[in-house]
Amino acid sequence: MSKVTVIGAGNVGATCANVLAFNEVADEVVMLDVKEGVSEGKAMDMMQTAQLLGFDSTLVGCTNDYAKTANSDVIVITSGIPRKPGMTREELIGVNAGIVKSVAESALKYSPNAIVVVISNPMDTMTYLALKSLGLPKNRIIGMGGALDSSRFKYYLSQALGCNANEVEGMVIGGHGDTTMIPLARLATYKGIPVTQLLSKEKLEEVVKATMVGGATLTGLLGTSAWYAPGAAGALVVESIIHNQKKMIPCSVALEGEYGESDICIGVPVILGKNGIEKVVSLELNAEEKELFAKSAAAVRGTNAVLKEINVL
Ligand SMILES: NC(=O)c1ccc[n+]([C@@H]2O[C@H](COP(=O)([O-])OP(=O)(O)OC[C@H]3O[C@@H](n4cnc5c(N)ncnc54)[C@H](O)[C@@H]3O)[C@@H](O)[C@H]2O)c1
Repeated sequence: MSKVTVIGAGNVGATCANVLAFNEVADEVVMLDVKEGVSEGKAMDMMQTAQLLGFDSTLVGCTNDYAKTANSDVIVITSGIPRKPGMTREELIGVNAGIVKSVAESALKYSPNAIVVVISNPMDTMTYLALKSLGLPKNRIIGMGGALDSSRFKYYLSQALGCNANEVEGMVIGGHGDTTMIPLARLATYKGIPVTQLLSKEKLEEVVKATMVGGATLTGLLGTSAWYAPGAAGALVVESIIHNQKKMIPCSVALEGEYGESDICIGVPVILGKNGIEKVVSLELNAEEKELFAKSAAAVRGTNAVLKEINVL
C-alpha cells in the first residue's frame, strides 16, 4: 500500500492532497494540520467527490495526530505561513523554520523511511534546514520550487508564442526567489524548436521577467500566495517518486560540488524515483548562466545564514 502524508492542510497542502487523490498517486493520502477539524473537514469534503470524479484513493484528515501518518512513503511539508502582497519569501523564515523542523521530526518518528518533500518558504532554506537537522541521506530531502517555476515559465512562453502550454519545454533552475530563479530561455523549446528562434530577445526577456515575479503577481491579485499550481507541482514531484517514474524535474537538492557549489540546497534538474533523488543532472551552462547560478547560490546562502542567527541550526 502506498501512503503520502501532507502536513499543513491550508491552500497548498489541501490542493496537493486533492491532486494526489484525484490522480490516484497513492492508496492513502493523509492531511495533518494544527487547526482543529480543518483537515478532517477537507478530507471528508474531498472524499465526497470520489464517486463524482471516480477515484479510489482514500483521504484522511487529522489534527496533530502523527500516529495516523505512520508508514508514509513520502511526507510533504506545506505547514507555515504564506507571504502577503509586498512580502518576499525570505521574510517568512523566522516563523516557518521552527514549524518545518518540528513537524518533520514528528512525522519521521512514525515514518522513519519516508522521503521528505519541502514546500514551505523560503523553500531552499527550509530544505537546507531539513537536510542539516533531520540526519537523513541527501537523496531523501527534496525541495519543491523548480517544478512550479518551470510550469509558470512554460505558461508565459505559451502565451508569448500563442501555443498550447503542453507543447512547450523549459526549465527554471537556481533559488526559488523572485530575484534568484533562473529561467533557462536558451534551452526552452516549442515542439523541439528553440524558442530563441521564434521569439525576439525583448519578448524572451519579458517572459523571463514575468516568470521570476510570477508568484508575486499572483500574491498581488489573490492577497495571499497561490495554491493551484503549487499544489499540483508538489503532486507531480510526489508522483514521480511513488510511481518510480524517473522524471527529470528541477528540485532544490543538496549539492556536493555539482554546478560548482557545496553545502547548499538549490534548484537543479534531478531524476526522481523510488529512492527520491536518483541522480543530479549536470547541465552545460554558458558563462552568463554560470554567473547567474553563482549569484543565486550566494543569495540562498545569505538566507541560510539566518538559520544560525535565529538559533534553529
Ligand atoms: N515552494 C513553493 O513553490 C511554494 C508555493 C506556494 C506556497 N509555498 C509556501 O507553502 C506554505 C503554505 O502556503 P499556503 O498558501 O498553503 O498557506 P496556508 O496558510 O493556507 O496553509 C498553511 C497551513 O499550515 C498549517 N500549520 C501551521 N503550523 C503548523 C504546524 N505546526 N503543524 C501542522 N500544520 C501547521 C496552518 O494551520 C495552515 O492550515 C507557505 O510557506 C508558502 O509560502 C511554497
